[in-house]
Amino acid sequence: MADTPKTATLTIDGQSYDLPIYSPTAGPDVIDIRKLYGQAGVFTYDPGFTSTASCDSTITFIDGDKGELLHRGYPIDQLAEKSHYLEVCYLLLYGALPTAQELENFENMVTRHTMIHEQMHNFFRGFRRDAHPMATMVGVVGAMSAFYHDSTDPSDARQREIASHRLIAKMPTIAAMAYKYSIGQPFVYPRNDLDYASNFLHMCFAVPAEEYVVDPILSRAMDRIFTLHADHEQNASTSTVRLASSSGANPFACIAAGIACLWGPAHGGANQACLEMLKEIGSVDRIPEFIARAKDKNDPFRLMGFGHRVYKNFDPRAKVMKQSADEVLDLLGVEDNPVLQVAKELEAAALADPYFAEKKLFPNVDFYSGIILEAMGFPTSMFTPIFAVSRTVGWISQWKEQLGDPQMKIGRPRQLYLGDTARDYTDIENR
Ligand code: SDX
Repeated sequence: MADTPKTATLTIDGQSYDLPIYSPTAGPDVIDIRKLYGQAGVFTYDPGFTSTASCDSTITFIDGDKGELLHRGYPIDQLAEKSHYLEVCYLLLYGALPTAQELENFENMVTRHTMIHEQMHNFFRGFRRDAHPMATMVGVVGAMSAFYHDSTDPSDARQREIASHRLIAKMPTIAAMAYKYSIGQPFVYPRNDLDYASNFLHMCFAVPAEEYVVDPILSRAMDRIFTLHADHEQNASTSTVRLASSSGANPFACIAAGIACLWGPAHGGANQACLEMLKEIGSVDRIPEFIARAKDKNDPFRLMGFGHRVYKNFDPRAKVMKQSADEVLDLLGVEDNPVLQVAKELEAAALADPYFAEKKLFPNVDFYSGIILEAMGFPTSMFTPIFAVSRTVGWISQWKEQLGDPQMKIGRPRQLYLGDTARDYTDIENR
């Protein structure tokens, strides 16, 4: 953190308090309020953390006004075009693009950790077949701490490294198993001769009855979707992982907490909610009705896949995703996909509407991803599990960064209390 002589002066009841200001390498300055309560006896108030920096970080930076997303300084559109998911994983975890040898070693290591403990297969059989795959993933990932005792101690650097590799490697296997279980098909084991994205597709779509050859077009699209969802600063699920980790919880419990948070429709669950919304709209002539509902204060309906806490311009991931949607659907011969047509018309109508322009509501990463995933053969219930597979490296990178921060303390916010002040108990006969 770059120290600067700048300070902010807060005056309360005639008493002034100087608070240090720190300047980042990019983005807004921050005011250090850590000593405020001790000095002035007041809390700051920021439900939803709209103006609060919870930590310092060197991993990802978002410029919401420009619509820019950098991973260790590299723009997401360049990474999506020129890199691939496991190389981005290395970049997020270690801070630099790998040499050819480093990348080969990393990919070999991930490949050889993709199987899960055979005993864990029984976990899946305890769920109903119609359980949402996210419910299964929360349960199975949390249970990993019951199987991998040699990598549960977050204070041990070697154990942190092993847990990181196990989670990145096994998340696709767990997600694919959750899918297979939900459709009553046998689990498909990972294969060491396939790359990360191809392996995931093979585990999802192969059946014992016949050979399944991964389509390179689908594999490239899958890898790009993984790359686009890998990390995103201190979003809700990453902040959940950091908060869980601040108590010293083991890595599998922390990642399971992140999965649970990601599931919400305002966050990672938006890709499923968005596709369901596009199908509910059904045709371009119903778009005005839904735009009107999204603008109606008395209607809780929101355009899923639109808006973002940070982006007040296009989400750069949505731009790449939109190009990918066109390519994948053309290559799959579904270019006249009615849902894609509704999506494009809805985007144009919303962007032309003053309500969305004034509130700076643009398509986000979830607006187009569901269309691609559905065209690839995934049910909507698998959209958020795929997001979780990708975001595991982001959660892990941020988890490791926090554990390495000497300033780390247990996260324990305060509150603005508006409840009853102290009062005596009333016996039931007197109530
Ligand atoms: C992700 O944080 C991240 O980085 C998340 C993520 C990541 O990679 O980790 O990018 C992934 O979660 C993307 C967002 C996916 N969610 C959705 O698409 C759901 C629909 N979007 C919204 O629910 C909303 O835009 C949020 C949750 C994304 C952001 O909410 P904020 O920042 O708290 O904004 P807000 O709810 O205060 O809304 C500001 C105004 C409100 O109107 P007013 O009260 O000011 O009159 O904009 C309106 C809202 O009603 N608004 C919308 C809208 N989103 C906000 N109106 C209609 N449709 C929408 N989608």
